[in-house]
Amino acid sequence: MAKKKSREIEEETKKGAQNDVSITNGDSESHEKQSKKKKKHREKERERKNDTLSLQNEMPTVSIAVPGSIIDNTQSFELATRLAGQIARAATIFRIDEVVVFDNKSTSEDDSTDVVENDTDEGETGAAFLIRILSYLETPQYLRKGLFPKHNSLRFVGLLPPLDAPHHLRKHEWASYREGITLKNQDQGSIGTLVDVGLSKNVMIDQVIQPGRRVTVAMGTNRNLDAGAPRKIVPSSRPREDGMYWGYKVRYASNISSVFKNCPYKEGYDYRMGTSEHGLVIKSSELNLPSFRHLLIAFGGLAGLEECIEEDNDFKGKNVREAFDLYLNTCPHQGSRTIRTEEAIFISLQYFLEPINRVSSKYEH
Ligand SMILES: C[S@@+](CC[C@H](N)C(=O)[O-])C[C@H]1O[C@@H](n2cnc3c(N)ncnc32)[C@H](O)[C@@H]1O
Repeated sequence: MAKKKSREIEEETKKGAQNDVSITNGDSESHEKQSKKKKKHREKERERKNDTLSLQNEMPTVSIAVPGSIIDNTQSFELATRLAGQIARAATIFRIDEVVVFDNKSTSEDDSTDVVENDTDEGETGAAFLIRILSYLETPQYLRKGLFPKHNSLRFVGLLPPLDAPHHLRKHEWASYREGITLKNQDQGSIGTLVDVGLSKNVMIDQVIQPGRRVTVAMGTNRNLDAGAPRKIVPSSRPREDGMYWGYKVRYASNISSVFKNCPYKEGYDYRMGTSEHGLVIKSSELNLPSFRHLLIAFGGLAGLEECIEEDNDFKGKNVREAFDLYLNTCPHQGSRTIRTEEAIFISLQYFLEPINRVSSKYEH
């Protein structure tokens, strides 16, 4: 849809340029003035259209931020696994693009995923555990063995209901894209790489890539796996741009300010919402979100987001309402004294569904 629109706008711009020539060919002074005015107007119009175009080219995304501490507060490995599974299900059901798992450190430290990789089999932190389970569940089943070495934290993962996301394809299913893992090349002089995409046969791609890498393969229309030109790999965001939900990315942040600072999107999160029983009460049908590119919805742990902000040196002297564009109570008149984070995620994402859809639909027309 966005591509069609950009073509239309290009045509219009070209037409505009042609008109330009015919007007400036006039020889009287008033004609010249008129043409300058029209040119200025067209330039302004072009700028406005370009702005709209760049917005259309970039899909709006929704990220959630969840504290790793909720895992530390569970009573057993099995309960921790089930809790992580619920968050993964919520993220998938509500088509979340990114899950940020944050710690409660006073200063921003190493925010790389090494934090997770360096964790030993035994003493894994809540955040590292949550990231591992979320990433594991998001990965199509046929890729897990190749991408996730055996780890103690994964011992109860088999109990969890699958995410059943659109990229979790079965062996007999055909789709325009498939997630795959690159394999060791059999012959030395090869100009491509074999990829296991979870079909009865591996497919060849037209690039040499080191083994063990997760890639998104454009499958094309040729269903004969023995013949035809090699297939292409595409950015993992491509299926999403084509309108399919293609799973979530997982990221670690050492505290809430790192959630904002280390946003993977160039322009950062342009609308940030915090959730709390102390937040504003607005009916979901009356919540008018501004046009956003990258929306962030944050959830707190046992003591809420207020404590996370208080303990974060980057927010010294600021209160929680200053840290977010909107601080909302998504479940007023609650019957229980506390709503647990995992419950609040489901409740809030359902609450935000309509307001977000109203904004997103503007990008599609
Ligand atoms: C155990 S609660 C923390 C309680 C805390 N007093 C608070 O700020 O809501 C854990 C998290 O669940 C979410 N939550 C709980 N009740 C909520 C409500 N009524 N509306 C929106 N989010 C809520 C918030 O993200 C909160 O940080």
